[in-house]
Amino acid sequence: MGTELLDSHGRVARDLRVSLTDRCNLRCSYCMPAEGLDWLPTDDVLTDEEVVRLVRIGVERLGVREVRFTGGEPLLRRSLPEIVAACAALQPRPELSITTNALGLKRNAQTLADAGLDRVNVSLDTVRADTFATITRRERLHDVIDGLAAAKAAGLTPVKVNAVLLRGINDDQAPELLRWCLDQGYELRIIEQMPLDAQHDWSRAQMVTAEEILASLQSAFVLEPAVEPRGSAPAELWTVDGGPGTVGVIASVSRPFCGDCDRVRLTADGQVRNCLFAREESDLRAAMRSGVSDDDLVERWQRAMWTKRPGHGIDDLTFLQPSRPMSAIGG
Ligand code: GTP
Ligand code: 5AD
Ligand code: SF4
Repeated sequence: MGTELLDSHGRVARDLRVSLTDRCNLRCSYCMPAEGLDWLPTDDVLTDEEVVRLVRIGVERLGVREVRFTGGEPLLRRSLPEIVAACAALQPRPELSITTNALGLKRNAQTLADAGLDRVNVSLDTVRADTFATITRRERLHDVIDGLAAAKAAGLTPVKVNAVLLRGINDDQAPELLRWCLDQGYELRIIEQMPLDAQHDWSRAQMVTAEEILASLQSAFVLEPAVEPRGSAPAELWTVDGGPGTVGVIASVSRPFCGDCDRVRLTADGQVRNCLFAREESDLRAAMRSGVSDDDLVERWQRAMWTKRPGHGIDDLTFLQPSRPMSAIGG
């Protein structure tokens, strides 16, 4: 085998997304039930050493160039700065980022930047306190806003904001959220909701589509397709009112981008998933804990990639939602 994470459709994964915990301190209704979920037992979660070993193998042996730490909520992992610092010392140095809800980021942003974190994506679906409490079931809007400001001040830029629109709850707030993000210098991307919620409540008919998102934004702004090539990025970019501000739309369901996917995921309990919607996983934790060599892990990881399906198949009659919810896979 070569030195890349290649699949049988010719795609090469260079973007590794590592979930550091399945826990979260919010309860977004499109993600989790109010009471939370049965969290992974501590012993099942990879240790810092195990995480860093797998990232090192990805970077040194398998061509990984970007590492995204996710959750649940990655800031709940106390040792996040140490993990970031260890990954920043790898050669070639990967780009390092987190996707976070920003609770606690105010306190940690500078520490993370000093450790080598390059940038952050923050989940924020509304700038109204009452809507925020409705969606997340917690009254923490001001903490997210402070966390975003701290990220910008620490130079964790570009700061991107991810928003999911829910019908009848915040689907009329896209222009207001965009105006706020433009004023603050954050790059807003609005995401189509995917069937990854723990409660299995998702329905195609309820989903706010990319077409609806664009129509809503166009009621308040002039959008033009941004010229820069999109590559493997999920977001389609539009310039707003002639630029330089932009807005992204992530149309995972209505305009899938699976053909350009360059991602591979590692769950907090050490399973390789070759797709968000994969139905099989490959257990690198058990392999590591049985004492296998780096060469063996390289081979297992490559084998897990090879069988990646060409697309997520959400529109297929045979589609089955993965048994792990988004919070246990990492966004
Ligand atoms: P950057 O633009 O590089 O910062 O990353 P990103 O947009 O991939 O990352 P982020 O973690 O912010 O993810 C934003 C959203 O993109 C997620 O909530 C998903 O809805 C979607 N997304 C990310 N990765 C995938 C993927 O592999 N497949 C699909 N279908 N959607 C994805
Ligand atoms: N569909 C699309 N995006 C989702 N997110 C969480 N659940 C879903 C879903 N079912 C988003 C969050 C966060 C990112 C990790 O994924 O808003 O920004
Ligand atoms: Fe937590 Fe993210 Fe799920 Fe919201 S979407 S409950 S912030 S893991």
